[in-house]
Amino acid sequence: MSATMRPELASAMARLGTESAFVVLAKARQLEAQGKTIVHLEIGEPDFDTPENIVEAGVKALRDGFTHYGPSAGLPDLREAIAANSDMWRGTKTDPAEVVVMPGAKPVMFFTILALCEAGDEVLYPDPGFPIYESMISYSGAKPVPVPILPENNFRIDLDRLRASITDRTKLLILNSPSNPTGGFNTREDAEAIAEMVMGKGIFVMTDEVYKDIIYGQDHFSITSVPGMRDHSILLDGFSKSYAMTGWRLGYAVAPTWLAEVLAQLQTNCNSCTAAFVQMAGLEAITGPQDSVKAMAKEFLARRDLVVDGLNEIDQVSCHRPEGAFYVFPQLEGFETPINDIADGLLTDGGVAALAGSAFGVHGGDSFRLSFANSRENLLEGISRMKNYLAGVA
Ligand SMILES: Cc1ncc(COP(=O)(O)O)c(C=O)c1O
Repeated sequence: MSATMRPELASAMARLGTESAFVVLAKARQLEAQGKTIVHLEIGEPDFDTPENIVEAGVKALRDGFTHYGPSAGLPDLREAIAANSDMWRGTKTDPAEVVVMPGAKPVMFFTILALCEAGDEVLYPDPGFPIYESMISYSGAKPVPVPILPENNFRIDLDRLRASITDRTKLLILNSPSNPTGGFNTREDAEAIAEMVMGKGIFVMTDEVYKDIIYGQDHFSITSVPGMRDHSILLDGFSKSYAMTGWRLGYAVAPTWLAEVLAQLQTNCNSCTAAFVQMAGLEAITGPQDSVKAMAKEFLARRDLVVDGLNEIDQVSCHRPEGAFYVFPQLEGFETPINDIADGLLTDGGVAALAGSAFGVHGGDSFRLSFANSRENLLEGISRMKNYLAGVA
């Protein structure tokens, strides 16, 4: 078929966004192919290998014949293990029927928004925030309503602004703590105050807690643990970040059964099910030894301090010390050059791949997101290159 015969895309496609990390990664790889050395601070994935016991469980499962279709909601053993595991850290009693296993945490977002949101609805989401939230809200036809997450509030959610953004059209509130891209953290008191704000108003909460195991000092608290919230919320979690399993594609939802059934139905329509041998690897991840999770979090803590201290020594850069996840979100002060141009130049001329904060929402426009999921040596090299590059920017 010639290009002129190409069918029109569906109009909703014009509303679908993307994730700039994948775009910048592709550009960085091109530069590397031309012989440049690039320090990669754009990628949102642990640089550690998947722990050996998990790899072995996946390989064994392949050999044992876990290579067929399975139930759309997930293998019963894994759903049970996820329910038991989430009870341990949420202090709740979860029925395995509330658990749906998916190929990554992202499909939980995609399916939940497709299942709940449409034109006429308003959806509150963190800004700066994970770009797929806004992308999917817009795609569904609902109105995205950003809730500012600002450095002056230590990147915690601003409860007053949240309250002021709620209308009688608010259908869904998306929370993310610890957060991508800011590393911000909502406290137990925040979660309780938010629960009080939404309960009784028909507002459902999707809480993205994929970074819950990477926190520095505080205790993670899920809004789903607040009494009464279980019926009004969906927990979105996964194995990518906690167990360095990004490429395996394994995540899950814990939701009221009426929604869990709908998500499983969407899964039947889309993926059929999650790869069975991957689920068996996930079973080992949550039931096996947890030392590697703790070791990774400890190393991330050391890198966080190294990066924050290094960035704060650069003129016109100010960096908040994140309380979770493996990102920093430093602000640039007093540059005339737009942030996107600085990020482009930093990559092509400075040899550092970083993401402009504008890719995370209107409130991220004066910042960069840097991932510290890289070796200490590379992080120091990246900071030194950044310092040199910024010294020449107007
Ligand atoms: C906040 C947040 N939620 C969800 C995801 C998606 O995780 P997964 O790889 O399990 O789909 C990411 C990945 O970067 C993320 O940062």
